[in-house]
Amino acid sequence: MNTIRKREELGCNVIRYVVDAPIIAAHRKPGQFVIIRVTDHSERIPLTIADANPDTGTISLIVQSVGKTTREMAMLKPGDAIHDIVGPLGRPTHIQQFGTVLCVGGGIGIAPLYPIAKGMKEAGNHVITILGARTRDLLILEDDMRSVSDEIIVTTDDGSYGTKGLVTDAIRSLVSGGTHIDQAVVIGPPLMMKFTSLLTKELGIPTMASLNPIMIDGTGMCGGCRVTVGGEVKFACVDGPEFDAHQVDWDSMIRRLGTYRTAEQAAAERYDHQCRVGLDAKESR
Ligand SMILES: Cc1cc2nc3c(=O)[nH]c(=O)nc-3n(C[C@H](O)[C@H](O)[C@H](O)COP(=O)(O)OP(=O)(O)OC[C@H]3O[C@@H](n4cnc5c(N)ncnc54)[C@H](O)[C@@H]3O)c2cc1C
Ligand code: FES
Repeated sequence: MNTIRKREELGCNVIRYVVDAPIIAAHRKPGQFVIIRVTDHSERIPLTIADANPDTGTISLIVQSVGKTTREMAMLKPGDAIHDIVGPLGRPTHIQQFGTVLCVGGGIGIAPLYPIAKGMKEAGNHVITILGARTRDLLILEDDMRSVSDEIIVTTDDGSYGTKGLVTDAIRSLVSGGTHIDQAVVIGPPLMMKFTSLLTKELGIPTMASLNPIMIDGTGMCGGCRVTVGGEVKFACVDGPEFDAHQVDWDSMIRRLGTYRTAEQAAAERYDHQCRVGLDAKESR
């Protein structure tokens, strides 16, 4: 059992938890993740270790409520416990002094991007960050990202904050303005990663992407997280989650992510219904 020490709402359906996990906090590296079960009956879900403090023995997890299990997690308060947390899992990010590193984050992908940008900055890189969101209310961690970046650009699809447009527009204008980029890292919704990597390939910028396929065991045995990279089958949980973005077969990953959509929607609806019945029963007492 891992006790929740702190809970903070970061934005629309996005919550940051600080959780006791001393062994993970002591050993984790940027880019790694954990697999948690909220209760002993819950599904296993992967979450990036957004930050860690070995002195307090805690890790931070930033979770967006998108379905049954993440909604179950959103009900937890400080003092409650997560039933189990396994990790750190996955290969750490390859961090070195590249020169100028472009960190591109979209939506909840900004959470896994933060420890990587921090690591890149600590390694002596000039870090330029581009954060993208559909609208201002969906933008998270701007201050945290600002604290580890030399330059930051925010884009929103609807122009409600920062520059109106997509992250790819911001990359184009950076490069056409004469900025040289030695390495890019992109994390966000699969379509955003696909189009960013198509652009950086065209611009000749080496790019890493952190993939988010469905994961179950996290140890390379179930095959759930299978992706194709450079024509070879890889398992994102043990071979990744980061890969050369220019080699990833994005269309096959996006197709596989939709495999269980009907069952996921049904599970979320059942969970919401049970919550409503529970609340009604409490109120009528
Ligand atoms: C390495 C990795 C790191 C991640 N880090 C974060 C993070 O830091 N914060 C965050 O909010 N989310 C993160 N995710 C995504 C998160 O795991 C899913 O949002 C979560 O599993 C959804 O579960 P659900 O029951 O709430 O929703 P569901 O309704 O079951 O699923 C919603 C969508 O989430 C994806 N998903 C479902 N089950 C899984 C699963 N077992 N593994 C991976 N994806 C799944 C699918 O695309 C699905 O369509 C990460 C995923 C991976 C692979
Ligand atoms: S999650 Fe099972 S093989 Fe990767």
